[in-house]
Amino acid sequence: MNQQSYELFSPRFHFYTAKEYHPNWEELFHEAYKLALKISKNIAFDKNPLSRTILQKRKLIALYKTLKALFINMRRMAKGNHNFIPLFYIWTMTNACNFRCSYCSDHRHHKYPDLYKQGHNKDLTTAQGKKLIKIMKDSTAIYFCGGEPTLRKDLPELLDYSTKLNMFNMINTNGSLIGDLLLKPTYKKFLSQMDVIIISLDSLNISQLSDIYETKESIARKVLRNILTLRILQNYVPFKLVANTVITKETIEESFDILDWCNDLGICFSPVSANIGHEPDYDLLNHPRYKILTKKIIERTNQGYPMIASARMLEKLLRASDIHCYPTVFDHIDHTGELFWPCKTYPQAVKITYNSALS
Ligand SMILES: C[S@@+](CC[C@H](N)C(=O)[O-])C[C@H]1O[C@@H](n2cnc3c(N)ncnc32)[C@H](O)[C@@H]1O
Ligand code: SF4
Repeated sequence: MNQQSYELFSPRFHFYTAKEYHPNWEELFHEAYKLALKISKNIAFDKNPLSRTILQKRKLIALYKTLKALFINMRRMAKGNHNFIPLFYIWTMTNACNFRCSYCSDHRHHKYPDLYKQGHNKDLTTAQGKKLIKIMKDSTAIYFCGGEPTLRKDLPELLDYSTKLNMFNMINTNGSLIGDLLLKPTYKKFLSQMDVIIISLDSLNISQLSDIYETKESIARKVLRNILTLRILQNYVPFKLVANTVITKETIEESFDILDWCNDLGICFSPVSANIGHEPDYDLLNHPRYKILTKKIIERTNQGYPMIASARMLEKLLRASDIHCYPTVFDHIDHTGELFWPCKTYPQAVKITYNSALS
């Protein structure tokens, strides 16, 4: 990376207007650039130009598995049979977390870090994790989640294993540790194996962010620096970078700014309205500014800015209306390896254990 690339990647804002309580972007970008430079010396680059495209053996196999599962699921649905093949597995690898977000919920009114402290801390071992991934391998994708998945020391080893089994890999992280982790030798292959990196980002105001996350301002600042760092690294290794914003009544105005910021920087935007347990927050849904925000998000989606879903789907999700959910297509595995059936959000969900398969 040289002066030319510095200028190429430095933020240029069109929609976004900086607020006095937002960080100094030039300073933060400079830090991100220096870190990206250091990381680029540690990570594995695949010299094959095809590796930057879908024409990679693993991705082609994963795509084939998706199309096959979709075809079978649609045929079953036409016959009224809802015994679907999972398209991906969401794996809560651990309940541990270094943050304690104000809205955090496991869909059952618990916060992951609290669950961990209350004794729900018996995560699968690495060997059990690999057995679980092997069970999942006939589906397309694995979504590493938590708690905070980057707290698991064996994350790179498990990712390497799922990659070898031709899975499509996604991670949802709070983004606080990823910049430092990518400097470690164990994380050398991480970016070339992780296809989608989703980072939570609920405000561009560091002071507000540290209050929401219950963490130090220096750590909240790292989340922003790490997103900017990953954005630069994206130009060298092919992965999709997504910012996931949980919209609350307190952070609606910041959500407008994050939308603009992401659209300007070419970062895929994933807006989610805060749930209370397994229910939408109806006060939020009826908030006049929320309605304006939703409209703006749909407009930008229609204009072609990168968003996590189609305009139609986002409209349904953000307005919590007309949603036909097929939960068994996205199976949710708990930190113990148990599967919630049909869905973690159902208060009466049954937990299915694989104990014999995992031991
Ligand atoms: C439980 S977190 C686990 C991964 C990681 N710790 C993180 O925060 O990104 C998974 C996602 O759920 C979101 N989330 C947590 N509580 C939520 C709530 N009450 N409503 C909507 N989304 C929520 C988080 O913002 C995050 O993007
Ligand atoms: S970082 Fe994720 S798991 Fe941790 S408290 Fe926040 S939402 Fe919950």
